[in-house]
Amino acid sequence: MKVGIDKLHFASSQLYVDMSELALARQAEPDKYLIGIGQSQMAVVPPSQDAVTLAANAAAPMLTEADIAAIDLLIVATESGVDNSKAAAIYVAKLLGLNRRVRTIELKEACYAATAGVKLAQSHVQVHPDKKALVIGTDIARYGLHTPGEPTQGGGAMAMLISAEPQVLALTDDSVVLSQDVMDFWRPIYQTTALVDGKYSSNIYIDYFQDVFKGYLAQTSTTIANFKALVFHLPYTKMGLKALRSVLPLATPTQQQALLAHFDCARSLNRKVGNLYTGSLYLSLLSLLLTDAKLQPGDLIGLFSYGSGAEGEFYTGHLQPGYQRGLDLGLPQRLANRRRVSVPEYEALFEAQLKLDPADQAIAFQDDPHRFVLTGQINEQRQYLDQWA
Ligand code: CAA
Repeated sequence: MKVGIDKLHFASSQLYVDMSELALARQAEPDKYLIGIGQSQMAVVPPSQDAVTLAANAAAPMLTEADIAAIDLLIVATESGVDNSKAAAIYVAKLLGLNRRVRTIELKEACYAATAGVKLAQSHVQVHPDKKALVIGTDIARYGLHTPGEPTQGGGAMAMLISAEPQVLALTDDSVVLSQDVMDFWRPIYQTTALVDGKYSSNIYIDYFQDVFKGYLAQTSTTIANFKALVFHLPYTKMGLKALRSVLPLATPTQQQALLAHFDCARSLNRKVGNLYTGSLYLSLLSLLLTDAKLQPGDLIGLFSYGSGAEGEFYTGHLQPGYQRGLDLGLPQRLANRRRVSVPEYEALFEAQLKLDPADQAIAFQDDPHRFVLTGQINEQRQYLDQWA
């Protein structure tokens, strides 16, 4: 029996900032952001969206009534959690109208956690093939204004339905994981923005990729020639390119060209959104599947997941016939329809998040076109609204 990703759907913000404009505002050359970092646009997440609403907005459009009836496991992976105790998954389950007999849990290990969710969900469905699991990676990447990490911000959520006989990607049972204590990126409990040793984190990322990718080749007697495409966690798209280049010497010149061409497709949508931490790898997968005309059913796709702190995993799946049926086909158009905000508007939105304060607060949500919005806080409780209800 095959088990894997049956559907993928993405949600982000209706707003973005242009990276050339941000570069000029920060006295940087535009090509540093466009080529050196590899980002052309960055999602600007308004205060009416948080990890919960992004997750619900990502999942709701793809779920049928039959899916909702079959889901008995909801995993929300995030490092942008809204509560130190209660799982974001409980709020998301309510907004989505999931069955009350559903196991709901929030997972955390930086940008890696959604992959733990996918692999746990795979095992769950292997034991219960009549059930489905919903895994959502949802985050808002925040380093702070005028920081070196600023051009690598962004945000959004990727929802994935894991089922038996999946439409999109049948996962293999093989994977190689690496987990070690590394202080490359972290967010102390009192911080709303991440602390990061940027250059160190980029080096650790490459070390982890080399370790798990080569470990996978050795463990499974696979060669790089077996892969149609490699997809990466993309904190900024140049990061994945550097990782890919680090293993290209294992391939022939023809294979190198092919892998680079597939990678260009796999980063095309991430270039327009920025980092979304847990969902980033899976936006790259969706980007590949939506924009690469050279893929064929049966192709082996390799996925590299990385979360600072640090944990990495390399795993694989085979593309399924008719995989397009499970994809978020409207995503490129939705990204094209976003509204461009100026740098001052982006800065004001960055500062306008719900305050870490017990006082009641109201958030202006009226311009937010998404179905689920955060409207504020009353009696120290976040207030969520379904605008379609
Ligand atoms: N034209 C073209 N390229 C240019 C250029 C120009 N005019 N000017 C500069 N560049 C290039 C540089 O040569 C450099 O390229 P290489 O990395 O290939 O050498 C690139 O632009 C970036 O320049 P700098 O290294 O000078 O940039 P920086 O010091 O301002 O910071 C950064 C870059 C370290 C990525 C920083 O944005 C950062 O700290 N980001 C957050 C950390 C991060 O994303 N780490 C990734 C691994 S950790 C992870 O993956 C988990 C996660 O999601 C956070």
